Amino acid sequence: GLPIVRSVAELRAQVRLWRGAGDRIGLVPTMGALHEGHLSLVRAARGRADRVIVTLFVNPRQFNSAEDLRLYPRSEAEDAARLETEGVDLLFAPGVEAMYPEGFSTTVSVKGVSEGLCGAHRPGHFDGVATVVAKLFLQSQADIAVFGEKDYQQLAVIRRMAQDLDIPIEIIGASTVRAADGLALSSRNARLSPEGRSRAVALITALTAAADQLTGGAEAEPILAAARRSILEGGFGEVEYLELRDAADLAPVQRVDRSAARLLVAAWIDGVRLIDNVPVWPG
Ligand code: PAJ
Repeated sequence: GLPIVRSVAELRAQVRLWRGAGDRIGLVPTMGALHEGHLSLVRAARGRADRVIVTLFVNPRQFNSAEDLRLYPRSEAEDAARLETEGVDLLFAPGVEAMYPEGFSTTVSVKGVSEGLCGAHRPGHFDGVATVVAKLFLQSQADIAVFGEKDYQQLAVIRRMAQDLDIPIEIIGASTVRAADGLALSSRNARLSPEGRSRAVALITALTAAADQLTGGAEAEPILAAARRSILEGGFGEVEYLELRDAADLAPVQRVDRSAARLLVAAWIDGVRLIDNVPVWPG
């Protein structure tokens, strides 16, 4: 079966053997409740590395409320079975005490890219993400790590953190896996009512239409206002943000005339917060 280790010492012992044999190690960090989006990251890692480590840790430091943490879906046995089928070499599933032992005092905080968008609405969230991902990179000594573009700002924060801290790891961004109607796969989709689930497609429909109009350098403001309206008319209760940003450094963009941009959204439906984003290319 798939080996599952819970301590950093056990993880390092395995990594030492693989590195000694000259194997290239790929890492896929997750919080479990795995779906096809996560499995696509595993396949991308397998294609680029000799050994693949998946991590499963529901990181308390990146949750904004105790309630959200408590409600987070947990299905380790099913997750492990799927990862075994995918040919994963090791599952690292530490407990909270192994990651944050008594006396733990360090926070990794990335300025700039973590401000605004989700960072403005989830205080401390990206500090929690950067801290745990820095630990996972150093614990695993992986050569590459794969993250989803679904969480585009998270990917930018992690790229910046690895670069700033000189962590010798290559960060790979993998494209978003979607349901047949276009909704980005997310463990949160399961919390939608049947009606909310069918209406949620309004998010990607509006993003795609706006991205088409933005290509070629049109002024963003009226296009974003129309997209916002169509998301609300489509059945969402609130648009938390809808913004056009530079694809690399996430700086605000008024029109897409030079370099690649990204259109990012967070919106609420059925009391569930959904996020998504699409590329916008200069014409
Ligand atoms: P989690 O939400 O479990 O996501 C793990 C990885 O799966 C992330 O890189 C995320 O971007 C990717 N992912 C989620 N849905 C996807 C989809 N539909 N298509 C492609 N990739 C998708 O993100 C986290 O966990 C945590 O913040 C973590 C990085 C593990 C740190 O705790």
